[in-house]
This record gives sequence, structure tokens and C-alpha cells, in this order.
Amino acid sequence: MIYYKTVEQIDYMKQSGILLSNVHAEVAKHMKAGVSLKFLDSVAQEFIEKHHAKPSFLGYSTGGEEYPASLCTSVNEVIVHGIPNDYELKDGDILSVDCGVFLNGFHADCAYTYGVGNIGKKKQQLLDVTKTCLSKGIAAFKKGNRLGDVGFAIESYALSFGFGVAKQLTGHGVGKDLHEDPVVLNYGKRGKGKKIAEGLTIALEPMITMGTRDVKYSKEDDWAVCTKDNQPAAHYEHTLAICNGKTEILTSFEPIEKVLNS
Ligand code: MF3
Ligand code: CO
Repeated sequence: MIYYKTVEQIDYMKQSGILLSNVHAEVAKHMKAGVSLKFLDSVAQEFIEKHHAKPSFLGYSTGGEEYPASLCTSVNEVIVHGIPNDYELKDGDILSVDCGVFLNGFHADCAYTYGVGNIGKKKQQLLDVTKTCLSKGIAAFKKGNRLGDVGFAIESYALSFGFGVAKQLTGHGVGKDLHEDPVVLNYGKRGKGKKIAEGLTIALEPMITMGTRDVKYSKEDDWAVCTKDNQPAAHYEHTLAICNGKTEILTSFEPIEKVLNS
């Protein structure tokens, strides 16, 4: 069942979104070769707790093993849900950092993929195209449209560059729970799917692959999802709301990009 939010509830989610964007910026400050994924996770967790919020992912479970960290750190062929470990980033890596915060009863969910040092043209294009996929999806996330319009916008842009959409992975409703209805596909048919209505709040998160769109599950844990061909994948995510008839983006990449450009 979809829980449509009131304007007041969306105001709370805005606060979660602002904090989460600042968490990402704090992590961005440490983004360089040599830093370990565990260290980035500790930066995020400390910042979240200092601001009297809770990391949405820590302890999260759908019945199986509990997720053990505040961030998902997914390097290169890992698409999503990489558990932060002692791996140290190296020049040429791409890293998706995904984080959620729970503040005043509401979650926000946001991801950004970084290039570490010199990543070369093809990986840079994968990052640029995936970020634009998110923008195209957001442009289609308008009151009165349907979720198929959003998925269509994302997939058609990715395919036009010869990239793949990891179809087994999806976005989702978000609010009092991290994962609510509806499932938000990164592909679809125009004019099909759920109508986008007042109070709908979603996490839109295109996961785009350089090679095959097929995925495999890591043998090391219950979480990490990788590309089947071990080619890189990128992932950007924003929390969105339909509020007073308008689309609002509740998370922001601006604080991250301010750090990266400074
Ligand atoms: N943004 C991711 C998702 O919505 C992060 C989930 S990590 C988990 O799937 F640990 F919470 F599962
Ligand atoms: Co999400």
C-alpha cells in the first residue's frame, strides 16, 4: 500500500534530506586514493549521530542478515549494497556511496558515484550518463504522469549510449519506512504504471551498467550485488516528493559538488 504524505510530513522529510545531503558532503571531503571504505563509513555514522539522527541502513533487514553499516560503498563492478570494509580506494576506481538517515520519524535516501583520481573517458561517461538518467527520470516525475514515464525516460537515455539498466534493482517509496510501496522501475512504457499523485514520496535510483545489465550476488556476504561481467556500474539517487502539485527534490548533490570543486 502506498502511504501518501501530507505537506507537513514532507516538511519533515525535507529536514531528513538536508541532513543527508550534508552527510554526503562530509564523506566527499575524504574522497581520495588511499582512504578505506570503513573510514568513510565512520565519518558518515559520526556525523549522523552528532545531528541526533539515525543511519537508516544500520541494522536494516528484510528477514535475513542485518546490514552492518551506515553506508553502502560499492566499488567498480559492485552495483549496490557493498559493505564498507578495509579496502583502500585507488586511482581509477569509481565508488557509489549510498546513505539514508532517519530524523523526526522520516527517512531520506540518496546516493552519489565518485571517480577517484583519473578514471578515464569511458568510466566518466558512465558517471555522467547515470547522473543525467536521474535528471531525466526526475523531469518525468510530475503529478499526472505515470511511473512508466519515469522508467522510460531513464532507460531510453541509458540505452542511447549503449549502457545497460540493472533491471533486477529498483527504486522505491520512502517515508516512515526506508522501503515503502511502490516499486520504482528504471525502465517502463510511457503512459503505463501507477499514476503520480499528490503526496507520493519516492527514492529514484538508476543503476546503470557499462556492459551487461545482468547481475550476480556476491559470495562474500548477503548484500553486495555485482555486474555479471564484472564491468563497472554507476548509481545516483535522490528522494523526491509531489508536494502542492509540484515535484520537490528533497536531497541535493550541491553540498557534495561544492566540496569536490573546492
Ligand atoms: N538505497 C539502497 C536501497 O534502497 C540502500 C539500501 S541498503 C540497506 O536499496 F541496507 F538498507 F538495505
Ligand atoms: Co534507495
